[in-house]
Amino acid sequence: MSLRPVTVIGVLFLIFIGSVSSSGDRHVSKCRSYCGNLTVDFPFTTQSGCGHHGYRELLFCVNDVLMLHISSGSYRVLEIDYAYKALTIHDPDMSTCNSIVRGRKGNGFVVESWRAQYLSPAPDNIFMLIGCTAKSPLFQGFPEKHLPCRNISGMGCEEYYGCPAWGVGPTRSSKAYGLDPPECCSVAYDAIRAINLTKLECEGYSSAYSLAPLRVAGPGEWSYGIRVSYSVPSDYSFCRACEATGGTCGYDAVAVHDLCLCDGWNSTANCDTVFGASSHQNVPLLDAVAGFLTCIVVWATLSSFYLLNPEH
Ligand SMILES: *[C@@H]1O[C@H](CO)[C@@H](O)[C@H](O)[C@H]1NC(C)=O
Ligand SMILES: *[C@@H]1O[C@H](CO)[C@@H](O)[C@H](O)[C@H]1NC(C)=O
Ligand SMILES: *[C@@H]1O[C@H](CO)[C@@H](O)[C@H](O)[C@H]1NC(C)=O
Ligand SMILES: *[C@@H]1O[C@H](CO)[C@@H](O)[C@H](O)[C@H]1NC(C)=O
Repeated sequence: MSLRPVTVIGVLFLIFIGSVSSSGDRHVSKCRSYCGNLTVDFPFTTQSGCGHHGYRELLFCVNDVLMLHISSGSYRVLEIDYAYKALTIHDPDMSTCNSIVRGRKGNGFVVESWRAQYLSPAPDNIFMLIGCTAKSPLFQGFPEKHLPCRNISGMGCEEYYGCPAWGVGPTRSSKAYGLDPPECCSVAYDAIRAINLTKLECEGYSSAYSLAPLRVAGPGEWSYGIRVSYSVPSDYSFCRACEATGGTCGYDAVAVHDLCLCDGWNSTANCDTVFGASSHQNVPLLDAVAGFLTCIVVWATLSSFYLLNPEH
């Protein structure tokens, strides 16, 4: 059997390709983490410096329970839907179809102003404000009708009053457009931009959404929780360029700007650009590895050439 230089080079080439692709896999999972049965991946993170900076200090994994923290409080994350760019969160002090929670215990939903462009309740999520006073800002400026109260694709207080939590018999809904404020007023988030029970002078709230493409039967079928949409800049070319060069998208936790996390170094551009290197390491590891492999190939070619052709 004669081992020819071409074969040796071929084998080395395959080893090289293998090492490059396996390091690629390592890059992609660098910032991914798991909390309970939820996968936390870009743009989210539970680690500083990972993900997109718009979602920094947002998610925390506590005893395998993923928690979301914003200015109105903490919520349990039930689901992260990466395909539809949405997450579902739950507040234990939120009213549902089975119970009405009063006493202003619920969080409502208020997000830091700098984060608002990244995180906002989904347009098909409805908030139902319960027991708001007549002086509530909700009813100001609308002396004749309680204009801000409305339903969204069949979800609203009129239907919500049908829940067991409201008991049987006539509810105050019949007075909805009378002199008293309605007991429940449903609003789309866009209309008021913050569900702050203190500011709105409300006793409680509920939040529901429906994932069914068609209008769902009744309030017993709705999903109770807050469906939140997230968005990173639509053409997020920085991250795509970073991942295309084997990096993981992250950010600089101190200066709060995008950072491409490469193997052993960080770049403000991508892992092929030595230019944007922001770490102290001058030679990117990948370049060093590539150089080393080139040396091996040259050495192997020469030595095998001489070993296998001793007559030269
Ligand atoms: C995740 O676990 C929770 C209970 O902890 C369960 O209700 C939910 O269905 C699970 N989700 C998936 C996708 O397995
Ligand atoms: C790269 O950035 C990440 C996140 O900011 C940081 O944790 C890591 O230490 C940095 N690595 C280097 C080599 O600077
Ligand atoms: C809610 O409104 C009250 C009164 O205006 C204010 O003091 C409080 O900071 C607000 N809460 C949040 C989370 O913005
Ligand atoms: C939804 O609200 C509209 C007014 O905005 C009202 O005419 C309609 O009856 C409501 N639908 C239901 C099912 O309550």
